[in-house]
Amino acid sequence: MPIAWSQTSPSRVIHADNLEVLPGLPDESFTLIYLDPPFNTGRVQNRRTTTSVRLAATPAGEALGARAAGTITGFKGQLYERIKGDLLGYDDQFEDYWAFLEPRLIEAWRLLADDGTLYLHLDYREAHYAKVLLDALFGRDCFLNELIWAYDYGAKSKNRWPTKHDTILVYVKNPARYYFDSTTVDREPYMAPGLVTPEKVARGKLPTDVWWHTIVSPTGKEKTGYPTQKPIGILRRMIQASSREGDWVLDFFAGSGTTGAVAASLGRRFVLVDQNPESIAVMRTRFAPLPDVEFVEPPGAERAPAADAALAPTPEATR
Ligand SMILES: C[S@@+](CC[C@H](N)C(=O)[O-])C[C@H]1O[C@@H](n2cnc3c(N)ncnc32)[C@H](O)[C@@H]1O
Repeated sequence: MPIAWSQTSPSRVIHADNLEVLPGLPDESFTLIYLDPPFNTGRVQNRRTTTSVRLAATPAGEALGARAAGTITGFKGQLYERIKGDLLGYDDQFEDYWAFLEPRLIEAWRLLADDGTLYLHLDYREAHYAKVLLDALFGRDCFLNELIWAYDYGAKSKNRWPTKHDTILVYVKNPARYYFDSTTVDREPYMAPGLVTPEKVARGKLPTDVWWHTIVSPTGKEKTGYPTQKPIGILRRMIQASSREGDWVLDFFAGSGTTGAVAASLGRRFVLVDQNPESIAVMRTRFAPLPDVEFVEPPGAERAPAADAALAPTPEATR
């Protein structure tokens, strides 16, 4: 689906399969890309036999050329194909997931500005495989952080430690040039305020790589009704630290549009993509107060109406 977009366009919401529109966006356009992909893509892949392939190291540009020729060596020349072959055989479900995600991550890398940062939001089922594969694909020197978002809500298993965190892997395009300014991030209360000076208590402390934050409350004012909606507070930190006012932010698994809502509130511009008509309807309602947001529907598609009644979010379904 061809999309005429440039950095002079207004912020935009595109109703489409992301893989159809991403190739039409220009290289290196986005300072921050946040991705919160669904784990179960509903796709059933044919089991792929993977072999170890030893490939010579290539610079980033040549890696994309190698992709066109059917091989990927990793953007920084790592032996990505061999690592993928070794790793994916362990878990069919993850193999399907990676087959879905990989072409989209390759597009994300291309679309990141040289000073840009990718935040990839995963859960415990995916995070460890994805970390190894992303190290090989982006380059280990481009790995910036593993953020843990810890929450405490909903039913708790009695048979194992209840799983109450998500993992956000953070990769930069260029480790020598990436933009990061934690001084602009909302500070948080000290856990032991008695141990620090009153001035420090008043200022609050810089967040670390472990973020305690409640999920979107089913009864709170932030709720849009979209079941996998992420909290504004989580997106705010990323967008504050890894982009400047006026920069472009991309989220091509947009859901309820939290990334766009936060980007706009912080003076950033955004492109959001989602293929689900309910997501588009929720975003029409959410962005109605914003002056300058364009909605792009696929040719011949019925315009997704604004959502009138919020769907009840399921507390367990953070993803
Ligand atoms: C986990 S949700 C994102 C929630 C979002 N972070 C929020 O705060 O609301 C994942 C979204 O990806 C969308 N999605 C899944 N596959 C897609 C694809 N191929 N193209 C575009 N959107 C897709 C789904 O419709 C869903 O809205």
